[in-house]
Amino acid sequence: MTHVMEIATPFLPLINQKKRYKLYYGGRAGGKSFAFADCLLALGREKKLFIACVREVQNSIKDSVYKLLKDRAEYYELVDYVFYDDRIENVVTGTRFIFKGLKDQNSQNIKSLEGVDICWIEEGQSISKASWDILDPTIRKKGSEIWVSMNREAENDPIWKAIAAHPDEKTLVVKVNYYDNPHCPDEIKYLAEKCKAENMDDYEHIWLGLPVAQGSTKLINAKDVRQAQESDILSSTSPLIVGVDIARFGDDKTVFCFRRGRFCERLEVSDKLDTVDVANKITNIINEKKPARVFIDMGNNGAGVYDILKDRGFKCVRGVNFGNAAINDERYFNKRAEMWGLANEWLKEKPVKLPKDDELLDDLCSVNKSFDSKGRLKLEAKEGVKKRIGRSPDRADAFVLTFAEPVYDDGNVKQAGITSQSVESLFKTTSQDLGW
Ligand SMILES: Nc1ncnc2c1ncn2[C@@H]1O[C@H](COP(=O)(O)OP(=O)(O)O)[C@@H](O)[C@H]1O
Ligand SMILES: [Mg+2]
Repeated sequence: MTHVMEIATPFLPLINQKKRYKLYYGGRAGGKSFAFADCLLALGREKKLFIACVREVQNSIKDSVYKLLKDRAEYYELVDYVFYDDRIENVVTGTRFIFKGLKDQNSQNIKSLEGVDICWIEEGQSISKASWDILDPTIRKKGSEIWVSMNREAENDPIWKAIAAHPDEKTLVVKVNYYDNPHCPDEIKYLAEKCKAENMDDYEHIWLGLPVAQGSTKLINAKDVRQAQESDILSSTSPLIVGVDIARFGDDKTVFCFRRGRFCERLEVSDKLDTVDVANKITNIINEKKPARVFIDMGNNGAGVYDILKDRGFKCVRGVNFGNAAINDERYFNKRAEMWGLANEWLKEKPVKLPKDDELLDDLCSVNKSFDSKGRLKLEAKEGVKKRIGRSPDRADAFVLTFAEPVYDDGNVKQAGITSQSVESLFKTTSQDLGW
């Protein structure tokens, strides 16, 4: 009884779309190799194709996808395929598969690939720039396609740079990970989860397919911060939002941040304030400046401050738990990641103004980003940040707290997150400047 060939959805474009470049990337066990093999076998039975399976280094046919193609053909009982030592042929259509290492090619012997209809580059991350530069123009037959399967190694893998960094309409780039693979064996899922628990950096590279360096890249770009600090914005009529990062102990610093829309006016740093001092200071700010919102970090002694202010009946005060779920929990791992992520987007929507404060700059650029298995933005734990800059990024935390909830510009302050509407859809349903 022959098995029916089913192609997982992410791979359907291999068959039903015409593209010059089809690049699939991601971590281990996304199903790339199996799907490429199945699709090529299927296409080769439809019409006569010349298919080259290449990789950077191929010392023997054992290094190639030959065995995988053979296994798949046998599994489906595709008896029209014949397996020779160095090639595979389809006796009905005349399709032919050949296998080559690009490292051994030069401008002369590469000519044997000129009639190729589909070139499958396996382990695309290993392809050198030199190999790519001779291969790409060699695959020149009308309608020919280059298929790439890879797990990104570095930020600037030559083939990634050539094909995927700036994809055009002739290029398809698809990310697939083990959780996208409907056939992923439980044993493999177990290995992935184990790795995730043990070493996040490894997990992100091996199983999520992030380039090695990306697991440790900064969320916020120093250039964006400097530009905001140099900006000549002087004022804004947007409602005032105050963020307060509360000290851990009496000897630590409490930071207040004042922001109106695109204009972050200033930071105020206070030493040695106890809970009541901070509550009194916020009370003065509320009475004098009538902020639309005051967001207080509920960690450390924040909960105590919040309780006092609630007792005093201030409706504009909100407590924020960094570890809570994000409003947009499709995009952000938690509240902390959401606030930092929105602050980063704010910085990129120029012009914006930040106070000239070197510690704020350092704080903002201290945090590394990553992504969880659902692809949501996630931040490095605070301990790592502290080790790197020798202190807690209090100024930045006070600033990002001003992004805890969207604040409408008409002074009519609304709370998000009560319904399931995302921040993004909130933006879409109003034409007003929301004061972000
Ligand atoms: N079409 C399929 N049918 C059965 N098992 C599959 C199929 N595709 C993938 N698998 C399973 O998932 C595993 C990983 O797939 P693979 O193609 O090797 O992933 P990748 O090339 O992305 O690392 C395979 O070893 C196999 O067990
Ligand atoms: Mg593979």
